[in-house]
Amino acid sequence: MAGIETDKRAETAQPKLSTEHLTVAFGRNGKTTPVLNDINLAVGKGEFLCVVGPSGCGKSTLLSTMAGFLSPTSGAVKIDGEVVNGPDPRRIFVFQERGVFPWLTVEGNIEFGLFHLPGAERRRRIIHYIQLVGLEGFEKAYPAELSGGMKQRLEVARALAVNPDMLFLDEPFGSLDSITRLTMRKELLRIWEAERNTIIFVTHDIDEAVQLADRVAVMSDRPARIQGIVKIDIEHPRDVSSPSYLELRDGISQQLGLAHKI
Ligand SMILES: Nc1ncnc2c1ncn2[C@@H]1O[C@H](COP(=O)(O)OP(=O)(O)OP(=O)(O)O)[C@@H](O)[C@H]1O
Ligand SMILES: [Mg+2]
Repeated sequence: MAGIETDKRAETAQPKLSTEHLTVAFGRNGKTTPVLNDINLAVGKGEFLCVVGPSGCGKSTLLSTMAGFLSPTSGAVKIDGEVVNGPDPRRIFVFQERGVFPWLTVEGNIEFGLFHLPGAERRRRIIHYIQLVGLEGFEKAYPAELSGGMKQRLEVARALAVNPDMLFLDEPFGSLDSITRLTMRKELLRIWEAERNTIIFVTHDIDEAVQLADRVAVMSDRPARIQGIVKIDIEHPRDVSSPSYLELRDGISQQLGLAHKI
């Protein structure tokens, strides 16, 4: 199938992040549930990788393990060749469930990760990222005063303001309306094209993945494996009605076992 390939890049250069025979299982009441089954992935430096898969297959588990919040049952995650043993402030994680600090204002939330910067640069970034996500006028508001979508935008602003080496984003635009979601995708691409951070982005939206990613990793049902890697070799901005776009999108849908027509 067009666009499907093995990960040759991983064999030639040291990847930014790799998973090696990564397996994660959860135990409860003496019963073990395998969630991730021998995941082998390599993500290049500056790459934008999207991960798609059925609900409950283990996407959030994979991302949390990559970011160091969960320990593998066996196998390893490596970043820059070093085994990951825990979270690191140079890597930022945007959780699927909202993770803003309720006791800090909008400004305070964005400022939180910028403590190491001089005051003037802190101010500049706070103003810039508040504008970027359209939260002007809400600088002094607390999260309880914001809508769900505004909280999500705040969380993305907080992550981007740090300009981290790696960004782990777990369905960051999931609860936004379709117009805001498009704006946020464009902004994320603009920032990534300028900064070239390595981004691993989980989404259940195939279109979102094909619009954003260099490559899309398709996960199988639980216990999840990587059942295919699809390279999206289309320049940005991408024409979502072009035959190459539609072919890649349909290829991923087929891998996920989704019908073309409903
Ligand atoms: N801390 C945990 N303890 C026990 N089981 C867990 C834990 N976290 C996740 N699981 C189980 O692992 C499986 C995968 O969950 P995960 O949240 O990674 O899926 P997901 O692909 O992100 O789903 P969704 O698309 O709904 O966000 C589920 O069956 C879930 O019940
Ligand atoms: Mg999830």
